[in-house]
Amino acid sequence: MSLIGKHLLSVEALSRQDLDHLCSVATRLEPIAKGEYRCDVLQGALLANLFYEPSTRTRMSFHTAFTRLGGSVVSSIGMDSSSISKGESLEDTARVIAGYADVIAMRHPQEGAVAQFAEPIFIPVVNAGDGTGEHPSQALLDFYTIQKEFKHLGKSIEGLRIALVGDLKHGRTIHSLCKLLALLDKVEFNFIAPSNLAAPESLLQYLKERGHTVNILDSLQQRLDVDVLYATRIQRERIENGENLPGYGEQFRVNAAMIRNYANPDTIILHPLPRDSRPEAFDLDCDLDSFKQLAIFRQTDNGVMMRMAIFACLLGVDDVLETHFHKRLGFRPQYYRKMDSMH
Ligand code: NCD
Repeated sequence: MSLIGKHLLSVEALSRQDLDHLCSVATRLEPIAKGEYRCDVLQGALLANLFYEPSTRTRMSFHTAFTRLGGSVVSSIGMDSSSISKGESLEDTARVIAGYADVIAMRHPQEGAVAQFAEPIFIPVVNAGDGTGEHPSQALLDFYTIQKEFKHLGKSIEGLRIALVGDLKHGRTIHSLCKLLALLDKVEFNFIAPSNLAAPESLLQYLKERGHTVNILDSLQQRLDVDVLYATRIQRERIENGENLPGYGEQFRVNAAMIRNYANPDTIILHPLPRDSRPEAFDLDCDLDSFKQLAIFRQTDNGVMMRMAIFACLLGVDDVLETHFHKRLGFRPQYYRKMDSMH
């Protein structure tokens, strides 16, 4: 398999074949994520989780995924507690950690920093988010979620129509997801944001060059008749005076009224999370929480499977997984949380 030993820095390195393979490995790993079986395929292997920016689900789901495959995890969290604050270069840190671990997941506030870190070392590095750059594992789990939801609805993923709303300029999840979806045939991308948060021109160019339709819109009402609505948080931490954003208001808030009035009954609603629950944030509203097409927690559940699949492929154990599955004995309490079954 072509991913063995490689870094996963950008979705641009992935082919359609890689994408399909990762999704099929993730599906095979569902019994592990659901706790029906345990797996020891990565017993003795070590993941170094380096997070120099805030994270809850990404860091924990990398950790969970690696542990569920039988591996162990060491972590470094925050710049202040790392030697980077003593002036150590990314290259030196990389050479040190590469001597400890078998694979690294890294998040860094600067675009390009994870690639710079990965350059001198020979163990796989997964980009867990580099500033406004990319977030490939999130895009993969988003894609996997879309594929699963479509299967449930009996729809084909080719010819997908997607609306993306929110901070399309700084949102790295959007950047990676759009480039990944560009591997499909004839996607319709609807970018919905005020001009100060618009998707980068280079991304629009990337999609157009690959034959996709790109529409630029400035309110949700203009195009919610789509298969997937992907909402995102305003990345206030990346914007000067980000607390006060003129031009961002009600026309971008994804709530029950907006969905009832303008979306299709089977429009799937996704969000990478966290959502900003403050009313003045105009983010994905909690009044949608009981809507069955709101797939955000199925999406987070899928993150564990997809991250297991990524590790299995990068470490070259994807073809021997099932021989390392063991029935879980003794630990099946009644209250054991079943993974959010489809709908
Ligand atoms: C996103 C991120 O960090 O880019 N979160 C995540 O990883 N699920 C989105 C965000 O912070 O808004």
